[in-house]
Amino acid sequence: MTFTVPEDDLRELEQQVRHALAAGDPRGLTVLGYGEVTLVLALETERGAFACKRLPVFDGRKRFEAYGRTLDRYLDRLRAAGIHVAETRLWHTELPSGRIAGYCVQQTLPVKRLVPGLLHSEGDAWAEDFFARFLDRVHGCVSPILGLDAQASNWIDLDGELVYLDVTSPLMRDARGRELLDVRLFFTSLPRILRDPVRLAMSKSIFDKFYTPRGVVLDFLGNLHKEKLAGLIPGFLEQANARITPALTAEEVAKYYKGDASMWELIQRLRKADRAWHLKVRHRPYPFLLPPDVDR
Ligand SMILES: Nc1ncnc2c1ncn2[C@@H]1O[C@H](COP(=O)(O)OP(=O)(O)O)[C@@H](O)[C@H]1O
Ligand SMILES: [Mg+2]
Repeated sequence: MTFTVPEDDLRELEQQVRHALAAGDPRGLTVLGYGEVTLVLALETERGAFACKRLPVFDGRKRFEAYGRTLDRYLDRLRAAGIHVAETRLWHTELPSGRIAGYCVQQTLPVKRLVPGLLHSEGDAWAEDFFARFLDRVHGCVSPILGLDAQASNWIDLDGELVYLDVTSPLMRDARGRELLDVRLFFTSLPRILRDPVRLAMSKSIFDKFYTPRGVVLDFLGNLHKEKLAGLIPGFLEQANARITPALTAEEVAKYYKGDASMWELIQRLRKADRAWHLKVRHRPYPFLLPPDVDR
């Protein structure tokens, strides 16, 4: 499923995004999905429909190119580890300031096949079969140097094949356990005064879980609370514990979710305060598109 990036349409989309940021009003944009980190915008073109994920703005070409290399390496390594990754292209344009706006571009895949929706609609037998395939993928891929953010909303089930969508934050570590991703860049949506302490205190705990099958599965199960799918947790725990030690428990999952949810709520509150500061006090655009609050 290879495709050509629709250059002109993307240029136009980026213009619209900049207008929306300047106006502090994203209503003119068509949002395809909300994650915790990026807004995914829909782009309809004559050459098809695309999912466009705007990255934090890069302060120079070197930093952008380093990101591109990390992304390519991540896509290669996921594929080598048996993950079907949605075909992803990196597109960029230079801003008037000389900084660089980049997008991860994918074809829009059938949203009806997103895993959370299927888990709601397809019944227990489908869920069990899905989770067996999911565990195979996770155990075949995740290692101390290759991570995966495997929440339900990051997968689309296409003809019985799980396709992974969420590649904008490549999760790889070097032999000493340091992230290869430009973590600092990905925390630029936090108010400046918090960035350094937050980065130091949280990056390890935010990222650790992505590098063990147990952590990835715990995160997946915890997130089912947010997806209003907690009824599936007992059955999934039984399946997961056939291959995970020490065994996961429902209490651990609930406790984990509470901690994770309050961390993201805190981050979202800080970002909104920062946005208000930019718009109302400094009278300048806030440079990010924030997702709306999650109903947890
Ligand atoms: N290629 C795609 N086709 C259709 N929907 C997509 C695609 N990529 C992302 N989405 C939608 O956008 C949501 C967020 O995308 P994701 O890549 O997971 O970003 P985030 O890092 O913000 O979680 C997904 O859960 C899904 O609903
Ligand atoms: Mg996601």
